[in-house]
Amino acid sequence: MTYENLLITYTNDIALVTFNREKALNALNSKTLEELVHFFKKDAPKNIQLKGVILTGAGNRAFVAGADIKEFLNLNTEITGGGLAKRGQDAFMVIEKFPKPVVAAVNGFALGGGCELAMACHIRIAGETAKFGQPEVNLGIIPGYGGTQRLVQLVGKGKAMELILTADIIDANEAHRLGLANHVVPAGQEVAKATEIIEKIATKSPVAIACSIKSVNSNFEKKVDGYKFEAAAFNESTLSKDFKEGVTAFIEKRKANFVRE
Ligand code: COA
Repeated sequence: MTYENLLITYTNDIALVTFNREKALNALNSKTLEELVHFFKKDAPKNIQLKGVILTGAGNRAFVAGADIKEFLNLNTEITGGGLAKRGQDAFMVIEKFPKPVVAAVNGFALGGGCELAMACHIRIAGETAKFGQPEVNLGIIPGYGGTQRLVQLVGKGKAMELILTADIIDANEAHRLGLANHVVPAGQEVAKATEIIEKIATKSPVAIACSIKSVNSNFEKKVDGYKFEAAAFNESTLSKDFKEGVTAFIEKRKANFVRE
């Protein structure tokens, strides 16, 4: 696929995916969403050496300022509201379930679908100028790309309810205080911090990382017994070459040498 709205570059086996519609504050239109799903489903899994993915926005004003409001004019003619929400939810689920770390480098507005996108990532780094919010009620809609679910998971029901009902936009420090942002860094350092974290994770067992991601995610799957899921994922990790290498390295008092394969 030729990407039009995403700019994808690789450094040291880390993919940097930049939402590249700066004039529209990187708003997520349907083409961008399609490209994002294609990247995570088709391109990224083929790259065995990939350590992880960083998502960021072009320019210094926005990460992603939301779903593309201009496309809402076609709603309920080309696609129903429910269909649109399902499409966004499914796309972000692919990111949440990606077996390697996905880090949002939030370099400006992360509003509506942009905040929901950041929340689907495993870790969020906020630049000091980042702004988070779910302002959908201003438009007569509600968060529909997983926001009513993941915001509750990250900040708790009371604060999630307040943020969604008031449409308040919060700064990076408040997002950090609430647990929405993992770290706050000076503006412009978001990708560097995300890279540092992915490089650290890349020294660990890839099997254990993939098993950890799916096991933590299982906590939020309503029909799944998380403890059972964890036991199965633990079992999977014990059957891996990584387990053998990790334990042998410990006994031999050396650093484990894990291989992505
Ligand atoms: N969808 C489509 N276009 C968007 C957009 C969105 N979510 N957010 C911003 N844009 C576009 C604007 O329409 C404008 O385009 P134009 O120059 O062709 O008119 C351009 O990006 C710049 O935005 P502008 O509103 O002029 O910048 P600002 O600095 O005055 O305000 C925001 C910035 C983020 C506060 C404001 O753009 C905004 O409220 N955006 C919508 C946020 C939102 O509700 N997101 C949830 C959607 S479900």
